[in-house]
Amino acid sequence: MLCPRWESNPHLLRDTILSRARIPVPPLGHILFYLFLTAIINNNCPKIKMARVISVINQKGGTGKTTTSVNLGAYLAALGKRVLLVDFDPQGNASSGLGHRHNLNEESIYHGIAGLVSPEKILRGSPVINLHYIPANNHLAGALVELVNVPEREYFLRKFINNFRHRYDYILVDLPPSLSLLTVNGMIASDEVLIPVQAEYYSLEGLSQLLETVYLIQNNMSHPIKISGALITMFDKRERLAREVAKEIRRHFRHHVFETEIPRSVSLAEAPSFGKPVILYHPDSPGALAYKRLAREVIDQERAFPDIQKDFGNFNIKF
Ligand SMILES: Nc1ncnc2c1ncn2[C@@H]1O[C@H](COP(=O)(O)OP(=O)(O)OP(=O)(O)O)[C@@H](O)[C@H]1O
Ligand SMILES: [Mg+2]
Repeated sequence: MLCPRWESNPHLLRDTILSRARIPVPPLGHILFYLFLTAIINNNCPKIKMARVISVINQKGGTGKTTTSVNLGAYLAALGKRVLLVDFDPQGNASSGLGHRHNLNEESIYHGIAGLVSPEKILRGSPVINLHYIPANNHLAGALVELVNVPEREYFLRKFINNFRHRYDYILVDLPPSLSLLTVNGMIASDEVLIPVQAEYYSLEGLSQLLETVYLIQNNMSHPIKISGALITMFDKRERLAREVAKEIRRHFRHHVFETEIPRSVSLAEAPSFGKPVILYHPDSPGALAYKRLAREVIDQERAFPDIQKDFGNFNIKF
């Protein structure tokens, strides 16, 4: 036996090790009580899940950002998730796609980020259960000018969204087609970006510029934003060019590309004119089924990257 004396006397072993390391020895009873208390707290206090905040971004116009925000949001809600869609585009298309009637005198996201109204007051219910939204309108374009010289101007949306993080599973932010202070606010407010890319030749050119902006946000602003993936939209598999571009995106894009490809679909184009997401317009159309698959893929990412959804205590809230 190597240490018969210590084996027969475990207290001696503990005291010897700790005193040699010159560590003050708390009484063993205190340590056990502390461990017992921690175990009870961990088992009995449910952890508050924070929303995954995903910005839908592409500086190129008309790539399907709003269509994706509205329909991904609707299907996530239909799959039982609590979803908030923040319209952060002065065009206000995401709001109107959910049946919102714009009125320039109403309070919108502009008033929310400027602190002119309580966040609750601009929260709206949509025709889909579990899907709420915050409208935007042209006032938001003015924010670009007003914020230019304000300190911490990149953090306004983040500060606003933090009011809702604990109440939703997903917060989607529909961004305008630009790389501006609005899109920077969107990225700083988000954990992830989802990039709709149209399967056409010029789409590839803008992607590298967009990625550079994401890296700038990661490195210069120390914000660990992830790229949840590129999404191929308006895909017509009968077109040779579309097939080739889709193949190129899958081959060269350095990050994840969603398996789901959103087909060109008349129902997706028509649904906003009825103020409805496609799930309430033509749920059996190919476009609707594609967004349903996408919603499942997005949810499945949580299993692949369990750290994607943060526990309440771990999230590094800036404000
Ligand atoms: N899969 C699709 N099939 C057919 N039409 C589509 C599809 N996706 C989007 N559209 C239509 O294409 C147009 C542009 O789509 P959308 O508004 O979603 O793009 P966007 O990227 O948000 O545009 P913007 O850059 O102006 O914000 C809209 O008229 C929309 O209805
Ligand atoms: Mg849009």
